[in-house]
Amino acid sequence: MGGPALRPGRDADAAGFMALIAACWAEYPGCVMDRAEVPELDTLATYAAGRGGAVWAAEAEGRVVGMVCAWPAAEGAWELAKMYVAQPWRGTGLAHALAAAAEDFAGTHGAARIVLWSDTRFDRAHRFYEGRSYVRAGAIRALGDRSNSIEFGYAKPLGESVVQTLDAAAAASAEVPLARVLVACVDAGASVSFFAPLAMAPARAFWRETARAVARGERVLIAAWHGGTLVGTVQLAFAAPQNQPHRADLAKMLVRPEARRRGIGAALLAAAEQAARDAGRTLLVLDTQTGGAGERLYRAGGWTEVGCVPDYARFADGSPCDTTFFFKRLAGAAPP
Ligand SMILES: CC(C)(COP(=O)(O)OP(=O)(O)OC[C@H]1O[C@@H](n2cnc3c(N)ncnc32)[C@H](O)[C@@H]1OP(=O)(O)O)[C@@H](O)C(=O)NCCC(=O)NCCS
Repeated sequence: MGGPALRPGRDADAAGFMALIAACWAEYPGCVMDRAEVPELDTLATYAAGRGGAVWAAEAEGRVVGMVCAWPAAEGAWELAKMYVAQPWRGTGLAHALAAAAEDFAGTHGAARIVLWSDTRFDRAHRFYEGRSYVRAGAIRALGDRSNSIEFGYAKPLGESVVQTLDAAAAASAEVPLARVLVACVDAGASVSFFAPLAMAPARAFWRETARAVARGERVLIAAWHGGTLVGTVQLAFAAPQNQPHRADLAKMLVRPEARRRGIGAALLAAAEQAARDAGRTLLVLDTQTGGAGERLYRAGGWTEVGCVPDYARFADGSPCDTTFFFKRLAGAAPP
């Protein structure tokens, strides 16, 4: 199915927008379209322009089959809003084209971040946003409307090489893009716990368990976005023994192959070291494939090489992999 062309939305699309939104809401129990609660739909193009943003429509055979809005929100963020695609057009790429148009427009108008709200019942939408590297952000909000809407907040940074720590909710919602990063790195040969080819199910299970460890306060999980896509990650695992309250392990430093050599690994490393300082952990330890890009990254980052253990692990193809151990005492930290 060839996708319908996108065009700027018009005030005259009001009936089409309303019919589309009403049909989408009717798919979920208790969701009702009350025109009085959305007066902006009468003149949506004027409303969006008045907020400094825009609306897009996708039209097929004279009917509006998709829509999205974007307008400035607080603190350098832009909001993506009223994102709907008619059922026959789902899974065709139309939703991605709409979201990309809104994100690109926001980016060219200086947005540092995109934020959005999505009803807690709209599980398909959550999977869509999470697939586009949005993560759960902030508190849930209740609208007090006829549909009793309770909404999750989602956000993602735009720009190049932006690094952020994920709390437990964000970590859980980032399971798919994090799994994609892990799969891409393993399939490219990285020696990081798994053999290639790595399927999405075990990769997702790994990140689900990581999110639980974040929720328990045992790990810090950091992600990196580039051009609105989650492309890298690293973790800090706090040492558990009573006599090592000052130590943490750096683990699962991963950057998608096509995003490497842009400083993303270095940015993740700096963020992990700062997270360690913030948590009062002053001695960091890691191990990495001998002769790999990670080894060069850690040397460039001022880590001290301890030595190499031959055949310590296996490469993604099963062949033996030597492993080099590094440590770093964080600047200003007193020896234990
Ligand atoms: C290791 C890895 C995370 C590096 O990510 P990256 O985003 O490419 O790293 P950066 O671009 O920030 O590199 C920072 C510095 O590290 C060094 N470096 C990183 N990759 C290098 C490479 N392939 N060759 C030479 N130096 C390299 C360089 O000094 C580089 O600075 P420069 O580009 O100005 O010369 C990435 O290669 C990766 O995901 N590898 C597979 C997984 C892995 O082995 N992880 C380590 C597990 S412990």
